[in-house]
Amino acid sequence: MKFDTPAGTNPIDQMKVVGRPTDRIDGPLKTTGTAPYAYERHDVAPDQAYGYIVGSAIAKGRITRMDTSLARAAPGVLAVLSTLDHAKPLPLGMMNIAHLFGGADIAHYHQAIAFVVAESFEQARAAAALIRTDYARDKGRFDLEAAAPTAPFEPTGDGPNAKDIDSVGDFASAFGAAPVRIEQHYTTPGESHAMMEPFATIAAWEGDKLTLWTSNQMIAWSKGSLAKILSMKPENIRVDSPYIGGGFGGKLFVRVDAVLAALGAKAAGRPVKVAMQRPLMANNSTHRPATIQTVKLGATPDGRLTAIHHSSTSGNLPDGKPEVAVQQTKLLYAAPNREIWMKLAVTDLPEGNAMRAPGEAPGLMVLEMAMDELAEKLGMDPVELRIVNDTQVDPAKPDRPFSERHLVECLRTGAEKFGWSRRNPKPGQTRDGKWLVGMGMAAGFRNNQLTKSAARIRLERDGHLTVETDMTDIGTGTYTILAQTAAEMMGVPLAQVRVILGDSDFPASAGSGGQWGANNSTAGLYAACVKLREQVAQRLGFNAADVQFADGQVRAGNRAVPLAEAARGGVLTAEDGIEYGTLDEQYQQSTFAGHFVEVAVDSFTGETRIRRMLAVCDAGRILNPKAARSQVIGAMTMGAGAALMEELAVDKRFGFFVNHDLASYEVPVHADIPHQEVIFLDYPDDKSSPMKAKGVGELGLCGVGAAIANAIYNATGVRVRDYPVTLDKHL
Ligand code: MOS
Repeated sequence: MKFDTPAGTNPIDQMKVVGRPTDRIDGPLKTTGTAPYAYERHDVAPDQAYGYIVGSAIAKGRITRMDTSLARAAPGVLAVLSTLDHAKPLPLGMMNIAHLFGGADIAHYHQAIAFVVAESFEQARAAAALIRTDYARDKGRFDLEAAAPTAPFEPTGDGPNAKDIDSVGDFASAFGAAPVRIEQHYTTPGESHAMMEPFATIAAWEGDKLTLWTSNQMIAWSKGSLAKILSMKPENIRVDSPYIGGGFGGKLFVRVDAVLAALGAKAAGRPVKVAMQRPLMANNSTHRPATIQTVKLGATPDGRLTAIHHSSTSGNLPDGKPEVAVQQTKLLYAAPNREIWMKLAVTDLPEGNAMRAPGEAPGLMVLEMAMDELAEKLGMDPVELRIVNDTQVDPAKPDRPFSERHLVECLRTGAEKFGWSRRNPKPGQTRDGKWLVGMGMAAGFRNNQLTKSAARIRLERDGHLTVETDMTDIGTGTYTILAQTAAEMMGVPLAQVRVILGDSDFPASAGSGGQWGANNSTAGLYAACVKLREQVAQRLGFNAADVQFADGQVRAGNRAVPLAEAARGGVLTAEDGIEYGTLDEQYQQSTFAGHFVEVAVDSFTGETRIRRMLAVCDAGRILNPKAARSQVIGAMTMGAGAALMEELAVDKRFGFFVNHDLASYEVPVHADIPHQEVIFLDYPDDKSSPMKAKGVGELGLCGVGAAIANAIYNATGVRVRDYPVTLDKHL
């Protein structure tokens, strides 16, 4: 189905099942520990052997010699793979920048250099410790500031980064002439996905056919990448990933667990399972890159922005991309003169890549702190400053409106519900015993991406519906919203729908990433349901145009037939997908939020405790308010981590992230998280899809960090521009 004009009225608008705060249909499986995660699929292949990954001990250079003889002779060992078995690196998979395996060259610390397969995990680990490796170490580039080039990043072609570099009007003159100005430098650290479930795969061969039970957000990308990396025909590969214990962007791509499990299973002649050891994860895989950012804002005394400069420097391996921390700045506020660019430093730290809300998450931590600084300089309320600079059109293309944009309502609603009027704009004035108390706010912004997505739906003989798509549920609620969509479209109770996900043999979906999963995957299923409705109508002798599906019945005029009747003559199967025309070129599609935070800072120790958080979100129709709320409070929690504690600490001498496990990479725990409230404005967006929904899972993170940092400033009067805002920085 092609979606190229705004959606009219359709069966989803009934909102009998869609839009309800339904519990997760996969909840009981998860809470009883019976959802089969990749490493736990003991049943799928007999005789599984265990793999253990060896990571490079240097960050840059090459291996001169590797002795695996002791490991090969160790008890229980079935196979030992060495990176030196391959003359050069295996081909790159889609979106991979760092090679995963092969060759003598080391591009980053903990790059996989060997893989041991044994009868037990302990035997594999013991044998791995017997591998002796000699290296020739090169001097690497590990200091972002020192490695920064003088010239801005020049994107090639019209790739995504090209759109994010922007020059409108005459920034320098406008900034110079602006009556009120701020100019500040900020930094954000590298962050790790640190998901609960590590990268994990079971691989099994049957002849030249390979099956991987793995943990991955994007099944079709994975299958294509594996075909490339392993030089196989895609049709010989099956990837299955029905349950995923978090990804946050770290599992958008094929990682080395999948590649080594496949190669190890071939070498051992047996299925092989591997879970990447936790201490390897931060350096072996990808991370959110650190940034150095500059914001300059010029405004009139009444707070209208006349000039915006935002630039960001980040590092990556050769051929990598910059972190697009400037991307929201093109669209969030109107200003006639704008200058936006990035610099890319070539570094030899592990690969930088997407982590939840890549771009906006670190970008808004900075832009929204700068706006707070400007508001103070103007003597203006920070909420009002955002409202004055709202735009309903793409500031660079006045004839291109936002499809829906209710940022102002997010901010006004948030201010009212949070009790913003009680905030003392003068910092460091509000005390509660030993605590200094402050409030802060920020705007949130994240784009809504349209991408094609397909699904299959079957009407079984007993009237049950089965949905099949390679879509993933990374903890987001996909199972539930797909079931809700099918139930609404076919007029059956939720319990009558079964959803099966994550199998590459199913129709290719949007996958889970970039907060595009919910809107696109449900829209793809919507298209399949439209087709199934036509088939049902035809089989039952109805005119498809005036038929209704409700209460398990198919109705038109006075005639009503149970839906199950349609399958009596044989199971009915419909497959279709959503494809988009140019609506997202005609309309800018984005999501918006107002974040409000209250903190208390210990006046003796500088310890920050968050007291209250509120997010008001404008993200189209909310398909399931309970699942969406869970996404947003999870994102707010991640924002608390980003503001207060998360930081990949770089060893600039040896080039690695020092705190590379969950004991030393600090993330918020329950005790760090106070009262959180989420309000959805719930305006359907008829230009986003027939579902009229948008993404929300990343929006919840965008802006939170700045709201917390701004609250700390309001509490203490100390402005920390170097995230995370730890107590040592504001004492
Ligand atoms: Mo998200 S960082 O695109 O999984």
